[in-house]
Amino acid sequence: YNIFSEVLVHLQFSNYQKKGLYPVTNTFWKASKTKQAEPVAAATGTTEESSVTQERGGSWTWDVSIANCSANLNLTNQDWFRGLEANFKQFLLYRHCRFFPMLINHPEKCLGETYLLMVIKSIATQHDRREVIRKTWGKEQVVDGKKVKKVFLLGTPSNEAQKANHQKLLEYEDYIYRDILQWDFQDSFFNLTLKETHFLKWFSTYCADVRYIFKGDDDVFVSVENIFEYLEASAHVKNLFVGDVLFKAKPIRKKENKYYIPQALYKKTYYPPYAGGGGFLMDAPLARRLYWASDSLDLYPIDDVFLGMCLEVLQVSPIKHNAFKTFGLVKNKNSKLNQEPCFFKSMIVVHKLLPPDLIHMWNLVNSNLICSQKVEILKPVGNWERN
Ligand SMILES: *[C@@H]1O[C@H](CO)[C@@H](O)[C@H](O)[C@H]1NC(C)=O
Ligand SMILES: *[C@@H]1O[C@H](CO)[C@@H](O)[C@H](O)[C@H]1NC(C)=O
Ligand SMILES: *[C@@H]1O[C@H](CO)[C@@H](O)[C@H](O)[C@H]1NC(C)=O
Repeated sequence: YNIFSEVLVHLQFSNYQKKGLYPVTNTFWKASKTKQAEPVAAATGTTEESSVTQERGGSWTWDVSIANCSANLNLTNQDWFRGLEANFKQFLLYRHCRFFPMLINHPEKCLGETYLLMVIKSIATQHDRREVIRKTWGKEQVVDGKKVKKVFLLGTPSNEAQKANHQKLLEYEDYIYRDILQWDFQDSFFNLTLKETHFLKWFSTYCADVRYIFKGDDDVFVSVENIFEYLEASAHVKNLFVGDVLFKAKPIRKKENKYYIPQALYKKTYYPPYAGGGGFLMDAPLARRLYWASDSLDLYPIDDVFLGMCLEVLQVSPIKHNAFKTFGLVKNKNSKLNQEPCFFKSMIVVHKLLPPDLIHMWNLVNSNLICSQKVEILKPVGNWERN
C-alpha cells in the first residue's frame, strides 16, 4: 500500500475531491496561501512572515522568516581555500549561514507533558522509510501514562526536479500525519549539521514539557521498550547523553572516504568523544544547553562530531552503551547475528535496516519470540573506526 501512488493517480485525474476519498475540502491544497487559525503546518514562502500562531505567552514562533544569506566570497582570494575539494568549498562559502525559515512546522507537537520525543532525520524522497517507521518504532503512543511523540526532520531536495515533484507530496503526507518539520535549506551530507542546530533551536522554542529525546536516522531498528527500561533505570542521571560513543576517533585524512576532513578544517589529532548519529538518547535540559553551546561554535561538516564538540563545550561526557549499534551490529555484514531476532530484542538501536528488513525484524521481535534470557549484549571490540 503506497499512499503516494494513490495521491499521484488522483492528481492526474484531478477528481480527488469528487470521489470523497480524502478530507481535502479546501484546506490542504490551499495551505501554502491561506493562513490558518490553528497552529498547524503553514508552508510560507521564504519572504512571507512566519505564520505560526501563538497560544501561550512568550516567544513561541520560529523567528527566521527570510533566507537571505549570500556566499562569503572573501574566502575565494585565499590560497588554502582554492586548494580544497568542491564540497568543502561549498560548505565553507555558506558556513556562516546559521538559520533558515521553516516550510513545515508543528508548534503544537510537544503540547502537554511528553515523556519521549522521537526525532528522525529524513529526506523528501525516503517516504517509504517514514511509512515503515510510523507503523513500527515511531508510533505515537502512551505507555504507562507516558506520552511518546515523533517528528521527522527534513530540508529541501538539492535537485530541482525532485523539489518540484516531492514538495506537494511531502505537504500531503504531513497533512495526514502531522509529523514533518521542514526547513528551507538543501538536504546534503554536509548540511546535516544544520539539521542538528535547527532541531535544537526548534526544540528550545516549542518543547518546554518534554523529558527525553531519542534522535536518529530513518534506516535503523529501535526498541522503544528498551529505551523505556533504560531511561527508568537512569532517572537520577543528570546531563544524560548515551549512545554508540567513539572515544579518541581520529579525523579521516584519506580523500576517498565519505568522512574525509582536510587539515585546513580540523587540525587536532583526535575528535572529542561523540555518539554515532544513527541513534542516541539525551535529556531535555541538556538539549537546551546544547543549543546554547552550538551557537558558540563554527559549524562542522559532520553532524555527530559537531554535537561531540558541543558536549565538550559543556564539559559533559557522553556515555557509551552496548545496546546502541549505530555502526552495525557486528562488523561482518554477513554474520548470522545480523538476522537474529533475540539480539535485536536486547538492543536499543541497530543500524542499518531498510524498510522490508525493518518490518520483518519488527514483527519477529514483537511476536511471541522466546529468547532464553535477555541475550547478553555484545562486548565492545575496541573503538571502531568509520571507514
Ligand atoms: C539581504 O541582505 C542584503 C545584505 O545583507 C541586503 O542588502 C538585502 O536588502 C537583503 N534582502 C532582503 C530581501 O532582505
Ligand atoms: C568579508 O570581508 C569583509 C571585509 O574584510 C568583512 O567586513 C565581512 O564581514 C566578510 N564577510 C564575511 C561573510 O565574513
Ligand atoms: C546548505 O544549504 C544551503 C541553503 O540551501 C546551501 O546554500 C548550501 O550550499 C548547502 N551547503 C552544502 C554544503 O550543501
